[in-house]
Amino acid sequence: MDFDDINILQQHPPVGLTFCLDVETKDAPNDVDEQDRLESPRDEEESPDDSPEEAQDMLETPSIPIQQAMESDVKLIPTHVELSPEPQINVEEEKSSKKGKSRRRPPIMVEWRDLTFKVKVPAGPPPPGLSPYQKFKHKMFSKTTRTILNPMSGYVAPGHILAIMGPSGAGKTSLLNILAQRVKQTAGEIYCNGAAITKSFRSLSAFVQQDDVMMGNLTVRETLRYAALLRLSSEIPIREKLTLIDDTLDELGLTNAADTIVGVPGIIKGISGGERKRLAIAIELLTEPSVLFLDEPTSGLDAKTALNVMETIRRIAQGGRTVILTIHQPRSDIFTLFDGLLLLAKGRVAYMGNAKDAKSYFEQLKLPCPDLYNPADYFIDLITEGNQAEQRKVDSERIKYILDHYQTKYEDHYQSPQIYEGLELKLGKFSRYKSSWTTQFSVLFVRSFISIMRDKMLTFARLFQTILMSLLVGLIYLRLGRDQTNVQNRIAVIFFFLLNQSMSNMFTSLIVFLNGDKRVFLRERGSKSYRVSSYYLSKSVAELPNAIFFPILNCCITYWMIGLNPGVDRFFIFIFLNVVIAITAQSMGIFLGTFAPSAEFAMAVAPLSITMLMLFGGLYLNVNSIPPWFIWIYFLSFFHYGYEALILNEFQGATFECPAPPQPCYYATGDAVIQTLGMTKPYSNIWIDVGILLFITLVLKFLSYVALRFIQKPKGG
Ligand SMILES: Nc1ncnc2c1ncn2[C@@H]1O[C@H](COP(=O)(O)OP(=O)(O)OP(=O)(O)O)[C@@H](O)[C@H]1O
Ligand SMILES: [Mg+2]
Repeated sequence: MDFDDINILQQHPPVGLTFCLDVETKDAPNDVDEQDRLESPRDEEESPDDSPEEAQDMLETPSIPIQQAMESDVKLIPTHVELSPEPQINVEEEKSSKKGKSRRRPPIMVEWRDLTFKVKVPAGPPPPGLSPYQKFKHKMFSKTTRTILNPMSGYVAPGHILAIMGPSGAGKTSLLNILAQRVKQTAGEIYCNGAAITKSFRSLSAFVQQDDVMMGNLTVRETLRYAALLRLSSEIPIREKLTLIDDTLDELGLTNAADTIVGVPGIIKGISGGERKRLAIAIELLTEPSVLFLDEPTSGLDAKTALNVMETIRRIAQGGRTVILTIHQPRSDIFTLFDGLLLLAKGRVAYMGNAKDAKSYFEQLKLPCPDLYNPADYFIDLITEGNQAEQRKVDSERIKYILDHYQTKYEDHYQSPQIYEGLELKLGKFSRYKSSWTTQFSVLFVRSFISIMRDKMLTFARLFQTILMSLLVGLIYLRLGRDQTNVQNRIAVIFFFLLNQSMSNMFTSLIVFLNGDKRVFLRERGSKSYRVSSYYLSKSVAELPNAIFFPILNCCITYWMIGLNPGVDRFFIFIFLNVVIAITAQSMGIFLGTFAPSAEFAMAVAPLSITMLMLFGGLYLNVNSIPPWFIWIYFLSFFHYGYEALILNEFQGATFECPAPPQPCYYATGDAVIQTLGMTKPYSNIWIDVGILLFITLVLKFLSYVALRFIQKPKGG
């Protein structure tokens, strides 16, 4: 479909269920009264009732007997209601603008039918009378199914905003996550323009999570710049992208914070919470996705900024985008910006339809919203339970009535709008990435590199640790002699180099990855900003300088202090080996980070794996004494190859002083040491060891890539 056809959107009703409410109570005079009341909800005499206090009273006691209300016949008349407001799409302007052309995405009508979400949760406390073992079993393994969302249906047409509102725990975020394809529903279907939703939906939609993760070391402007470079078409000239960034900064009131670093809440001071939220929205607004999901976009913002943000979202919607958002108690001026309203309570629908019709809907349920009362507050109050037992009982009765009423009158009779005329049906072709692989690689490389370089705290900590450890080890083993006792010291210090390089590189890359990179990756992957391969390769390359610089510094300080093999070639090979070991350890860290389901899991497994590798590395257990059933660990351990290469480099061709006879001379030459350590196998060769280390690195990198690609799924907020 061409964008020109977007005005067909005006034929589509905004949100479903679409209906006109028409009350036909069994009692005719009542009907007239009701109609009068609808037209003029309050007359002069009633005005004192308009106070919020009065509204509160009304909530506390249902104003009509429930049975009577249930009997009133609220007739559902499916109809193409007037759009309010109509999408304002200036097709000519869009056509003439290259920007508009390149950022153009097809309008999408999102529909869901009988969507259900259930989770398995631990069963409550064990029943009495169980044995301790049964209690333990119950606690560990008993699960029960909890229904988070009961079957619900509805739709949102392009050009409209659907606000999902409800008390905390009602299931708003769960529904948003499912619609945005971040979480799989238990049952039911989601449709885009009438066709079952496919993977391509993620590249057409954007999701602003409640607690968005960003790279803490970049400034606001840089964050937007990289997002623009990655996610906007390469057809758009750079200058236009920069203008767009400035406009977006301006639109969201971020100009003053443009050059401040984003920061990490609680760790690195950066922009404020509200600015952070606006930046998260700005990133998604840049690309003007077909469908925009926002989880509480206004939380943490002051009233004026919240309104600004919502007005921007409104403008985006008017350009033919579909917006679905959750929101907590919006101000009335914000409420008027919504087209559709979905009220959720206890995982069920209390109301779904036009936002402007909600007031009259509840009036017909004899729960009228008083004038001068913010309707949004009123609706939330209607479906929220109080804290005190008595109040709770009244509230839950009222909520049940509202939910049952909607269920029987509308939910059970949901009819698909079936109006996809003019909407693009084949959405698969839009799933392409906006930027080329090479652009993605270079932008991600620069971004990762800058982020690593700016991480002053980590860089300083590593510098301090490297210099301190180097000096300490250098001083402990200062000027090792060449007598027999120092042979053992040389072996030990070489193992220490190996251990130090492995631990520091493995844990640093693991922690950095788990603390930020992985979450940023999952968010960006969720919106299909780039390919996993370009991300992973750029990250691996950007991390190389650290894996090269710190081992060199370490070796330069310690090697000569200790007096290891004096050959210059041996010194350079020693540095090279340390760098290779550092790179392998880095890959090991990322490997653990990609497979681990959580940071806690990774931090528990990492020391275990390093201990295993160390045990079978060759120092603690001579290769000839390793039990045959453990020998595979020895062959898998990168410690073993690193250790062997370092030992060969140090001892091959070396000579040692022998004590005066009759004392025995065990190690007259370095080759005797090598022989004792069992490193005389046909493949005991420095360069074969380097080859195997590089091979292990490649395998770890490949497995990490596979894990990122197929195991780590993007999550919602
Ligand atoms: N994967 C899950 N496992 C267990 N419980 C879950 C899961 N996902 C959601 N829930 C529960 O479902 C309920 C609804 O959660 P949801 O996050 O959708 O609420 P919400 O309406 O967004 O609330 P809030 O306004 O506080 O953000 C909550 O009680 C939550 O604890
Ligand atoms: Mg939520």
